[in-house]
Amino acid sequence: MSSAVGKYHIWTVGCQMNMADTQRVSGILENLGWEESPTMDGANLVVLNTCSVREQPEKRAHGQLSLLKHAKRHRADLLVAMMGCMVGNSRQVEDMKQRYPVVDLFFKVEQAEILPHFLDERWTPLAGEGCVDVADMGAPRTIGVSGPLPMLQMEQGLPDAPMEIPVADGHVTSMAGAAGAMASNFRPGSRELHYPTAGETGVKSRTPTAWLPVILGCNKVCSYCIVPSRRGRERSRPAAELLDEARTLTEAGARELTLLGQTVEAYGLDRPDEGDLGDLMERLSEIDTLRRIRFMTSYPPHMTDKMIHQMAALPKVCEHVNIPVQHGDDGMLARMRRGYTLAEYRTLIGKLRAWWPDVSLSTDIIVGFCGETDEEFQHTLDLLEEVRFDVVHVAMYSPRPGTLSFKWEDDVPMEVKRARLHAIEAMQERIALESNAPYVGRDEEVLIESHQVAGGHHQWRGRTRTNKLVFLPASRPGARADDGSVAGDVKPGDLVMVHIDRATAWSLQGQRAIQ
Ligand code: SAH
Ligand code: F3S
Repeated sequence: MSSAVGKYHIWTVGCQMNMADTQRVSGILENLGWEESPTMDGANLVVLNTCSVREQPEKRAHGQLSLLKHAKRHRADLLVAMMGCMVGNSRQVEDMKQRYPVVDLFFKVEQAEILPHFLDERWTPLAGEGCVDVADMGAPRTIGVSGPLPMLQMEQGLPDAPMEIPVADGHVTSMAGAAGAMASNFRPGSRELHYPTAGETGVKSRTPTAWLPVILGCNKVCSYCIVPSRRGRERSRPAAELLDEARTLTEAGARELTLLGQTVEAYGLDRPDEGDLGDLMERLSEIDTLRRIRFMTSYPPHMTDKMIHQMAALPKVCEHVNIPVQHGDDGMLARMRRGYTLAEYRTLIGKLRAWWPDVSLSTDIIVGFCGETDEEFQHTLDLLEEVRFDVVHVAMYSPRPGTLSFKWEDDVPMEVKRARLHAIEAMQERIALESNAPYVGRDEEVLIESHQVAGGHHQWRGRTRTNKLVFLPASRPGARADDGSVAGDVKPGDLVMVHIDRATAWSLQGQRAIQ
């Protein structure tokens, strides 16, 4: 390994999975002695952790790439790496290499072990030319002056999700069948690529909440979605590795873990010996210092009755489910290839609410998908009014090259998409306020996450078990006013009872309950 080390900066956009990946890569770089630079300007290695779900985050990455291209003209010591959803299969990477010669390394998080070798080869204060593409590394090759780079079998480790998986619209069973057929990801003799664990990378940020990616990739074929082709097939991580990682994270101060997956209930389908998500939660619950378990994102057909009962019975599993419905019209759901009907979705919501008291629900909605009529859109509004989700994430349809729907006409004009988005936001603001109002007067358990100063007031920020954001003054009522740096008898990671005395659509405000 090169003894010379430098500074790195990771630019991250996108979902929680990307944020979890950034933490791991940052840990790897720090283990190598590299220091974090708060800005790109001060960094010798800039890693762009990208998102392709919509066009907008890709445009932002393009913006960063132009800046970096400019910077590289003056900075021979600057290396640029790209990870995340813009890094697809080897054909896509080949294309990206042509388009963005400024990028020195394309890698997926499971190939992050390439970083020490890449830096050893490529980073000197006067960096050389060329491009290391991990996809090319099926055969040993020599770059620069030292030995061969390790074998990374990208095509075997991260197989491309075929876009033509035979899933009949609306049939949950065929979805499960398809998942089963996809269980064998690796060819005989191939080495499984390995997600870097918190134990290996070190835990950089000692926060009370931490992410635990439990299943990577997605086997579904939602017609609008780029994720399966960029993140590969579903790969569950071994339960023993996850338990170890959970212990490492809690030893570093985490009190709450969010189990992550694109379709998190698919956990274990490709590793039947590991049990399912409910079983994993049972095992995680045994870690004493872990106080709360969350999970996201739920995929309706995979959530079984057994899982719901198990989650509801486990005291550490918080009463919140993020369960995207995407649309309120059956015809649209079929065109979206979501794999369930509204009747099935409603039945599931009914079970969740009946078997898991006080559960709160959030969902994702896409407006302006190909061919969406006023009437079909109205069905989405009707569904939101009927189900009354606590939180709705709404996005305007953005055609993504490489998806099935990219071939269809994007025929809803932008102003109509925008108006539909605003209509949902306005409706949801009212519903959220109505769903938060009953909290006023109650005492709620809050996990204190961080401290902030807003409008000159020191506040603690935390969440209820149902994932409602709570603010409380950084001192006990009547106690000596605090300067915020020590802030009285509360600290991040504490679970405190808070008496809620005000609710808005976005948050709750309260004070520590006097016990
Ligand atoms: N695994 C998650 C979703 C991952 S993508 C799930 O099952 O829902 C996150 C969200 O982005 C999706 O829920 C969807 O609402 C939105 N999204 C995905 N592709 C999109 C596209 N092409 N245009 C607009 N929104 C999209
Ligand atoms: Fe995307 Fe559908 Fe998977 S939204 S991440 S293809 S479940």
